[in-house]
Amino acid sequence: MERAAIVTGAAGAIGRATIARLAAAGFGIMLVDRDGDAVKEAAGGIAGTAVHSCVADVTSPGDVKRAVDQAIASFGTVDTLINIAGGGGPKKTLGIEDIDLDLWNHVMALNVTSTFLFSQAVMAGMTKKGFGRIINFSSILAFGEKGPPTTVPGRLAYATAKAALIGLTAQLAKDVGKNGITVNCIVPGLILGQPGTRVRGRFDALPDHEQARMLEGYPLGRAGSSEDVAAAVEFLVSEGAGYISGVALPVDGAYL
Ligand SMILES: NC(=O)c1ccc[n+]([C@@H]2O[C@H](COP(=O)([O-])OP(=O)(O)OC[C@H]3O[C@@H](n4cnc5c(N)ncnc54)[C@H](O)[C@@H]3O)[C@@H](O)[C@H]2O)c1
Repeated sequence: MERAAIVTGAAGAIGRATIARLAAAGFGIMLVDRDGDAVKEAAGGIAGTAVHSCVADVTSPGDVKRAVDQAIASFGTVDTLINIAGGGGPKKTLGIEDIDLDLWNHVMALNVTSTFLFSQAVMAGMTKKGFGRIINFSSILAFGEKGPPTTVPGRLAYATAKAALIGLTAQLAKDVGKNGITVNCIVPGLILGQPGTRVRGRFDALPDHEQARMLEGYPLGRAGSSEDVAAAVEFLVSEGAGYISGVALPVDGAYL
């Protein structure tokens, strides 16, 4: 079967590893990211498959529609949606008293509403095809984290949004399963991408004792890599994973 995917946050650490895997598996891919230079560079690194890019802000309903329309125009249909774009917002917050409503709403829009909007926009095409794969991105933070905030800026808002994505995944999987569409969610632990990537930069800037404290929580003895996550995504979007739906899969070195 010909496959075509939309990947949001495609220019980030996990996004780049994911598009490399999908390209090797023969997917046509629409890369979506708000960072225009980075998404063009990411697209340029992929060879041997049809790759397009769209500069879009996933918090904007108009941009989401434009990105999905562009993907459908490029590939005819979209059967795979990977909602990677997300994060804790621009401001480091320590506790509930530091979080203003703008930050709260931004973190919900970036993680939750974007996933809802993209899923809604691709649904008619997947239903018509009788086949679809949707992957959402939660976090171990959905279950809370002890101690001072570390690599995640707006931690309370982020934890809330990432927990909401587990619920969205569970319900949507039950709603659309009859149409041959699976919906699953990855729950990453600490994932350190290549040097220069966002989370890696924040981790590297922490004092040694803070880094050690974070890594102590990982029985496998290391942080995860972007490739660890991309491998799980590749499996869940495969045709062979068609009886797995509604799960929240930790990729976290046994942290949870
Ligand atoms: N890296 C980790 O340790 C970790 C752990 C748990 C969960 N996650 C989740 O995994 C996902 C990817 O993480 P990552 O480490 O690759 O992050 P990253 O910051 O490296 O990549 C995120 C990408 O999303 C893009 N983006 C951000 N806001 C956007 C917007 N409004 N519109 C369009 N694009 C936007 C950025 O430009 C960037 O390219 C995120 O949802 C994150 O919350 C990451």
